[in-house]
This record gives sequence, structure tokens and C-alpha cells, in this order.
Amino acid sequence: MGFLELAKKRYSVRAYKPDPVEKEKLQQVLEAVRLAPTAANRQPFQLIVITAKGKEADLGRIYGRPWFVNAPIVIGACAIPSQAWSRQDDKNYCDVDVAIIMDHLTLAAADLGLGTCWIGAFDPAAAGEVLGLPAGVEPIAFTPLGYPDDQPKEKKRKSIKELVRYEHW
Ligand SMILES: Cc1cc2nc3c(=O)[nH]c(=O)nc-3n(C[C@H](O)[C@H](O)[C@H](O)COP(=O)(O)O)c2cc1C
Repeated sequence: MGFLELAKKRYSVRAYKPDPVEKEKLQQVLEAVRLAPTAANRQPFQLIVITAKGKEADLGRIYGRPWFVNAPIVIGACAIPSQAWSRQDDKNYCDVDVAIIMDHLTLAAADLGLGTCWIGAFDPAAAGEVLGLPAGVEPIAFTPLGYPDDQPKEKKRKSIKELVRYEHW
């Protein structure tokens, strides 16, 4: 599959089959995460891979939608700001780094026929408590990981004209 085809194939999956994710496929997704670029190669993140079965109530506190806990796996992506690169004006790039690893994760999953959905609207206090996150480890995003049980919707995106400005010096 070419890259553009893969980018079109990935969509936010909001219904999952209970079928397990093969260990090899999970490893491939995690390898795609490991290979992601981060600012100054600091790799200031930690990924938490959660087997959802039996933990539905706790996961439901983090994000209340039923489909979130229907997938066999839920992954939490955390930033460790103290390990991240900061620009000269002190802007910390850990959120950018986590966004990149999440993008590698979601695209690698789609390439393997697996579904994901970025979750930003989770309860950070519940996430910290349920996952036992120490101070300095910030949950940034979650995603279920499993086989899709829905169909992709048409992608609604702004046009390139609206999104890109060309400058010709
Ligand atoms: C940073 C971020 C946070 C998101 N948070 C949520 C969320 O909390 N719940 C949800 O259902 N979808 C969430 N989404 C999914 C977006 O709604 C979705 O990516 C967007 O509508 C485009 O649709 P597509 O992913 O199917 O192409 C999030 C996406 C991103 C990138």
C-alpha cells in the first residue's frame, strides 16, 4: 500500500470486534512507535499497553464511551516533559513528540488492518489514578487498538488552497 492510500485508509474507528490483536501485530505497531522521530531524539514518552478485558470499569472512568473499552487493547501515550527538548524560548516539545508517535501508531495499525481512534477528551485525573502515573508523567492521548467493526466515513477536509500558502521569494 502506498503512503497516500494508507493515509486515506486510516480513520477514527468507534466500534471494535472483540477479536484479540495478534502479538506480532502489536509488536509491529510498537516498533513503528519506537522508530518515530522526536525533537533532539529525546524520546520523552512512555506508552502504556492495557489489556481491556476485566478493566472496563476503570477504563470507563478514563473515557466513558462504550466502544473505548470494547477493543481488546487500549493504549495510553504519556509525555515526560522533563526529558523533552525545549526551544530557546523554553517551549517544550513533548506534546509534539507524542503526537508524532501516536501518528506512527495509528498509521502502522491501519496498515495491518487494525483500528484506532485518537482520544483527547479523556479525564486526566482518572487516567493518572487508574494507571498509577507518577508526577511528571502526563497522559496526552489514548486509543483503542483492535479490529474495526464499523465502516470508514467520507473524509471531510479543507482544500489544499485553504490550508497552504505558497510564498515565492
Ligand atoms: C488530538 C486529537 C484528539 C481527538 N480526540 C478525540 C476524542 O476524544 N474522541 C473521539 O471520538 N475522537 C477524537 N479524535 C478523532 C477526530 O475527531 C478525528 O480524527 C477527525 O474527526 C477526523 O476523522 P478521521 O480520524 O476519521 O479521519 C481526536 C483526534 C485528534 C487528532
